Amino acid sequence: MISEIRDINLWESGRRKIDWVKSNMPLLRSIEEEFSVTKPFSGLKVALSVHLEAKTAYLCGVMSAGGAEMHITGSNPLSTQDDVAAALVHEGLNVYAWYNASDEEYHRHTSRVIEISPNIIIDDGGDLVSLIHNEYPEKIKDVIGGCEETTTGILRLKAMNKENRLKFPMVLVNNADCKHLFDNRYGTGQSVWDGINRTTNLIIAGKYVVVAGYGWCGKGVAMRAKGLGAKVIVTEIDPVKAMEAVMDGFEVMKMTQAAKLGDFFITVTGCRDVITEESFNVMKDGAICCNAGHFDVEVDVAALRQTAVETKLARNNIRGYKLSNGRWIYVIAEGRLVNLAAGDGHPAEIMDMSFAIQALSALHLVRNKGGLNGMIIDVPKEVDNEVAVRMLKFWGVETDKLTDEQEKYLFG
Ligand SMILES: NC(=O)c1ccc[n+]([C@@H]2O[C@H](COP(=O)([O-])OP(=O)(O)OC[C@H]3O[C@@H](n4cnc5c(N)ncnc54)[C@H](O)[C@@H]3O)[C@@H](O)[C@H]2O)c1
Repeated sequence: MISEIRDINLWESGRRKIDWVKSNMPLLRSIEEEFSVTKPFSGLKVALSVHLEAKTAYLCGVMSAGGAEMHITGSNPLSTQDDVAAALVHEGLNVYAWYNASDEEYHRHTSRVIEISPNIIIDDGGDLVSLIHNEYPEKIKDVIGGCEETTTGILRLKAMNKENRLKFPMVLVNNADCKHLFDNRYGTGQSVWDGINRTTNLIIAGKYVVVAGYGWCGKGVAMRAKGLGAKVIVTEIDPVKAMEAVMDGFEVMKMTQAAKLGDFFITVTGCRDVITEESFNVMKDGAICCNAGHFDVEVDVAALRQTAVETKLARNNIRGYKLSNGRWIYVIAEGRLVNLAAGDGHPAEIMDMSFAIQALSALHLVRNKGGLNGMIIDVPKEVDNEVAVRMLKFWGVETDKLTDEQEKYLFG
């Protein structure tokens, strides 16, 4: 099947981006070295749907070095970087993705990687797993298993599994400690602000920032907002998380209250309709909304489009909507993940850990082909530990070791 990308001539810029992240991803480099010798994925086809930027491209290179035949698409129409896609095709990998794909194009591109009859699926948000079950059930027999990158994808998998509809094992990469503790918290925390800052070019200090959702991602976004000098308000539905936010020093209130105060709004709940018309109508003139949750359903942009009396492209990637009360509300990147649709995603060192877990989880699936219990598989504890041990080594950090006496004292 022939790749579908915007422009192969962009490959040099993409190659530079990939080389840059590679030089900052020591874990993946060490795994690439091992895979190049052991070739664990020889003869296997891998379908991958992850935000198609440089770190993901390097993961594809690592899997390819391990012998995999890679078929790649993006996991969001606005996060694909065309130069990175071109670099992969230039290297001989198969890519079906471009920036700003229409719904129909996005569906066609995701279908392409399923049509090749993959043996392993690497998914981010559950689109590939959902597609193969719903539209290509005849391809399921070839699948050894897959890995899911994010919280929202895991929710979808668990819902399918509850109804006995999940037909092959899926490793829950997001649930590994070395994934969500770092990627969701510090990765999202930093990259969301990178996306907002580079897109708006506005000061954060002294402003009200409303963070909807105080899960792993929300904690990071709120923590970094505080560091930038913002007055941070958190909205939650979970009383424990809300209490945690209170004790972390943040104000907690309902969205309809926070809406009156906020200068910046960031949704990161994995839920839908978090900021709706009711809130837009009481927002200050010039309020800026964006989303960092997986799907673009958290900020009700459709309602804004419908009710606005005027809209304008206020700045690259920022659309303004004038309400009938005369106030302008701005939305970054159409309410899609702000760190990827208005930035380059998480820092390389963070994705080094997340993608090391992806690569080692794919290896776990191949090594245990047919022998795994159940369809929902946790990342083995050894993989999690191995990633932390290797990462500490690269950072030059040493830890203490238990003496025999201490071990006996603690564990009997
Ligand atoms: N932008 C990124 O790069 C990135 C990275 C990792 C995860 N994600 C996505 O971000 C989302 C959140 O992930 P997470 O790991 O923080 O999940 P999480 O489950 O740890 O946290 C979500 C929080 O949102 C709260 N919540 C749910 N509905 C709410 C509502 N209506 N209003 C207020 N709070 C609500 C929940 O109680 C929970 O505390 C998911 O969609 C996930 O896939 C994005």
